[in-house]
Amino acid sequence: MEAKILNELNRGKYVSGEAVSARLGLTRSAVWKNIGALRRQGFVIEASTRRGYRLVDTPDKLLPALLQPLLKGAPIAGPVIHFQKTGSTAGEARLLVEAGSPEGTIVAAEAQTKGRGRMGRKWITPAGDAIALSVILYPSISPSQAPLLGLATALAARQAVSSVVEKETGVAAAIDLKWPNDIYLAGRKVGGVLVEMSAELDRVRWVIDSIGLNVNNDFAGSPLEKEATSLSSFWDRRFGRLELAAAVLKELGRAYARIRNGRGLAAVAREFEKHDLLKGRRVAVSAPEGAVEGTVAGVDSEGRLLLRLPGGGVRALFSGEVSVRRP
Ligand code: ATP
Ligand code: BTN
Repeated sequence: MEAKILNELNRGKYVSGEAVSARLGLTRSAVWKNIGALRRQGFVIEASTRRGYRLVDTPDKLLPALLQPLLKGAPIAGPVIHFQKTGSTAGEARLLVEAGSPEGTIVAAEAQTKGRGRMGRKWITPAGDAIALSVILYPSISPSQAPLLGLATALAARQAVSSVVEKETGVAAAIDLKWPNDIYLAGRKVGGVLVEMSAELDRVRWVIDSIGLNVNNDFAGSPLEKEATSLSSFWDRRFGRLELAAAVLKELGRAYARIRNGRGLAAVAREFEKHDLLKGRRVAVSAPEGAVEGTVAGVDSEGRLLLRLPGGGVRALFSGEVSVRRP
């Protein structure tokens, strides 16, 4: 109902309360209550007894009423479930999978108190600064192809961020990737992708595909200062989270539609290699059996990292078992 009221108000002019209640079949007091709820979410709505209501400003929040219209007709288009604050959008998505939520369900949060990265690491999401999104998918791929979906997601996020930044600043953005899930800007981590799934031997039951992006975060003085960055600290201006989130979801939807049609996955590894910071670099990999050093030769058709070993030979590494550091 709030979305419908917003739609009525979205004209920049005064609209009489009477007209809104007549068009939506609501009492005047129900309209007033919804206006109150919208104001509490950050919408600035003027009310005048003579002229009615006028929408003056909308918050830059990933609210269903604002995000969903931007995704109309896209392959991943919601429903959008929004939290002002939650432990982790990925955790919320997991509950929604168990409750039978449809493919394309998007979980968004303004803040996460227990955000998580790969291998149980912490992911910091301060209120209102970052993008934290999780998308529920039921892809008909085999479990061995799931890592490619993670790479495709990082590629989609990179593409979306690059286009939005270029459009907003007029300058091309050099956004890199670091296998398997990191998004980098000027040598620092600006975002990450987390793919969680449940599968049988030959069938993926569900995937929760998550993206975290540092948009307007300020890491100055924080323990992450040296390793993390945000779009705002690099370009010294704020960016619209709604616009960025919509761009990321649309790009992800495009990639996912290609994958659903059986066309997308083969090209993912080639494309990822083009943007991978690690390609051609000497790296140290911590694997379960200990540290392995080598030179990154690329990514194979299952999304594994190919490591050329000093003694000759190549090793293919699954993302689940390793953490890559530049020595
Ligand atoms: P790799 O994924 O290659 O093993 P990584 O250190 O980047 O290495 P991840 O699990 O991908 O590890 O990311 C989680 C790490 O990211 C955390 O340990 C923390 O150091 C860092 N981190 C946490 N929150 C943020 C954030 N908002 N922005 C950038 N980095 C963050
Ligand atoms: C990583 O770099 O290791 C991945 C970070 C993924 C962070 C996102 S934010 C939205 C979703 N919820 C989480 O708790 N994690 C992911």
